[in-house]
Amino acid sequence: MNYDTSRAWYERACRVIPGGVNSNVRLNSEPLPLFYSHGRDGRIWDIDGNEYIDYVLGQGPMLLGHTPRPVIEAIQRQAEKGLVYAGQSELEVRAAELIVEHVPCAEMVRFNTTGSEAVHAAVRLARAATDRTKVLRFEGHYHGWLDTIAWCPARRGDELGTREAPLMRASSKGQPSEDAVNLLVLPWNDEALLGALFTERGTELAAVICDPFACAAGLIPARPAFLRALRTLCDAHGVVLIFDEVITGFRVTVGGAQAYYGVTPDLATFAKALGGGLAVAAVAGKAELMRLFGEGPTVHAGTYNANPLAMAGTVAALELLTANGGSELQKAHVMGKRLWEGLASAARQAGHTVDFRGVPPVFSISFLPEAATPILDFRSALQADADKLKNFWRAMHQRGVQFTSFGIWFLSTAHTEADIDQTIAAAAASFEALGGTFSEI
Ligand SMILES: Cc1ncc(COP(=O)(O)O)c(C=O)c1O
Repeated sequence: MNYDTSRAWYERACRVIPGGVNSNVRLNSEPLPLFYSHGRDGRIWDIDGNEYIDYVLGQGPMLLGHTPRPVIEAIQRQAEKGLVYAGQSELEVRAAELIVEHVPCAEMVRFNTTGSEAVHAAVRLARAATDRTKVLRFEGHYHGWLDTIAWCPARRGDELGTREAPLMRASSKGQPSEDAVNLLVLPWNDEALLGALFTERGTELAAVICDPFACAAGLIPARPAFLRALRTLCDAHGVVLIFDEVITGFRVTVGGAQAYYGVTPDLATFAKALGGGLAVAAVAGKAELMRLFGEGPTVHAGTYNANPLAMAGTVAALELLTANGGSELQKAHVMGKRLWEGLASAARQAGHTVDFRGVPPVFSISFLPEAATPILDFRSALQADADKLKNFWRAMHQRGVQFTSFGIWFLSTAHTEADIDQTIAAAAASFEALGGTFSEI
């Protein structure tokens, strides 16, 4: 593959944009931060004309593929009528109604632009409702980049401390250590540690926040018993349970991870798949909590909140995803299952031990040593062979397939059997090639 045009633009970008990118997640992209010309359905093209079957999908938003007609037509219609009103439109009511109808915890909804903001709103609401300040989060879970929550990232090489007393590590330089004072952290999926923490400090907690699939930690779905314990403990101690469903929402099932597990949080946050590609996020939950935003001193704001363009895209995306009992989303399940099984079989044939976690529309792979223990949290995920994953990623990229560099595969409802079968063929060749050095792949 030739990346000359991307390289030229990247050099130009680096002169005016720090690192040449607008999100640090893109900084270390290989072979370099690429520039794209267009996407269509389950594929994307870079500006050198290289074509990829795309399982990155914008890091998740493009669940309906890169060019979902109903979303495109809805925003084209809306664009003619204005982009931001700083007032209400019928669209936001319809979008909220669709969420209330399909998400178990959602009795009321407020919209934001990014997942980070929605998390910020949920945590503020929990603190306002409980008059407490402490928030429990889990190691390696990502809840956006804001100072008050972006701690204990999934980063190799960090000192972690003990399981009982994990170190409170900042995600970024520039985060005041004071922001960590109100946070507590635990390893994921450990009921014993959770129970002990609640016994000691449960009444100090305003909220517990988790991503039920712990996507950033390596995609490590909660053990059902752990989520049930979390619900019981929060109820017993008057703590607000927040599910961050920015990735899992409308993807794992139409009702999100909460419907998948049958565990209903008090509040949940959504973004990514919610808007069919538009920049939109939401916090949703119990009316008794959500009403605080409409009644006085608890503030939630944003110039672009529920802007009609984003709402037009959201209504179109949600109508498509929720129609006929979720038959559209089922397509991503069917294609994801075909891909998962094909990859697993190709890995086995090539003699690799590959661990698959998640559900067909979003799953992750790790190369594990023979004697690996089950992956239950970020610490146990460190057993995985990161170099081998990187080499597999490179081999796949050279064969015109891209998935996220940390091993997550996002499926869309627009991927076809031909996309999947081409991917499996590329994987079979790439698995075979592993074991050599990168230059041999
Ligand atoms: C679970 C989770 N929460 C929150 C966020 C932050 O969302 P945004 O990047 O839209 O601010 C992300 C982003 O990837 C996420 O995966």
